[in-house]
Amino acid sequence: MLPQRTSDYTHAIDIQTSAPYTSAVDPRSKHATWVEVDLAAIEGNARALVALTNARLMAVVKANGYGHGAVETARAAARGGAAWFGVARPEEALELRDSGIEDPILVLGPAPGDSLEPLVAREISITVCNSDHIASAARAAQSLDSTAKVHLKLDTGMSRLGAAPSEAASLARRIGDSDSISLEGVFTHFARADEPEAPTNREQLRRFDDALSQLVADSLRPPMVHAANSAAVFTLKDAHFDMVRVGIALYGLQPSKEWSLPGEFQPALQWKSQLTRVRELPAGTGVSYGQDYVTENEERIGTFSVGYGDGFRRTKGNQVLVAGKPVPVIGPVCMDLSMVQLDSIPEAEVGYEVVLIGNQGKAAISAEQVAERWGTINYEVTCGIGLRVPRLVGYPDSSR
Ligand SMILES: Cc1ncc(COP(=O)(O)O)c(C=O)c1O
Repeated sequence: MLPQRTSDYTHAIDIQTSAPYTSAVDPRSKHATWVEVDLAAIEGNARALVALTNARLMAVVKANGYGHGAVETARAAARGGAAWFGVARPEEALELRDSGIEDPILVLGPAPGDSLEPLVAREISITVCNSDHIASAARAAQSLDSTAKVHLKLDTGMSRLGAAPSEAASLARRIGDSDSISLEGVFTHFARADEPEAPTNREQLRRFDDALSQLVADSLRPPMVHAANSAAVFTLKDAHFDMVRVGIALYGLQPSKEWSLPGEFQPALQWKSQLTRVRELPAGTGVSYGQDYVTENEERIGTFSVGYGDGFRRTKGNQVLVAGKPVPVIGPVCMDLSMVQLDSIPEAEVGYEVVLIGNQGKAAISAEQVAERWGTINYEVTCGIGLRVPRLVGYPDSSR
């Protein structure tokens, strides 16, 4: 019998192996470390987003659904009301189509020339930023005797991708002149939506509005105008237009350090492991590479199977939960293993659950707390969880 049973998931899929995963199986019998993704949370977060806007909801599921698993996340978001999916790369869009998702998909990032035909063939919408992109999309569509659906991206202040707003009308006209391309959308992206007071948000919106007015005046406005990411859904209501593109809030993670999501949003991801060794080490024993940590007294030291090869950063000050208490990770994190100081948990033994992100008893560690320790943002924490960590994705028993 394994102590400290982990939460039960039904209808779950082990994405890495596609093996069926039921509540009868404790993940510790099978995995050294794993991620649990609560699809009920994603579905509920999507529903809460739909209730906040009259615009359509695009679920942004790029980078393996911010580390949560793209396909299952997309399906849960659709059940919650998402009508579109956003990805960064052609391969990500094709993965969604291959899994049977038929809803509209937009590749938000640049699509290299050879990737265009498969995208057009599968009715996946493409982002264009200049006349070269437009010509390439037209060529791909002509060779298939089809039509490419494109969204024109405008750079209103992020200085990353997109045409100057002053070019919007001439590029839209060029698209309109081709029988092989149809202008489905026009969009931009905010650089500082997470800082509601930043004056650049209004300035970006003004530039976008000016470009839209020109498109309207020339009868070139496409049906899908979109600008807002998660933070802007809450802080820039004038930016909702026809669709909002939401990533981080869909996963129940905080879009800003300056305010919190409403209480109905729930984080969907937990990252767990188990103790694989527990020892009392005598005073003066070095632990981990460089024997960086040296025991002061006799100390209870545990080893668990997560390392920087899984995306657990080699930074000082990491903490994990064991038996419902925060305990310090000691010595440098290794590639596949880490050590933890267990003096406060004398009962801890091999097989005890270790929580890196998530809840255990009354204790919790959020992705935001991990990000703070690592000097980064919650996005990078969940996106950085390695692909070798199995995602156990499903609905917890309690949600059905
Ligand atoms: C173009 C674009 N739109 C929308 C999003 C979603 O942003 P968020 O996760 O802040 O909602 C992203 C994410 O990086 C993006 O690049």
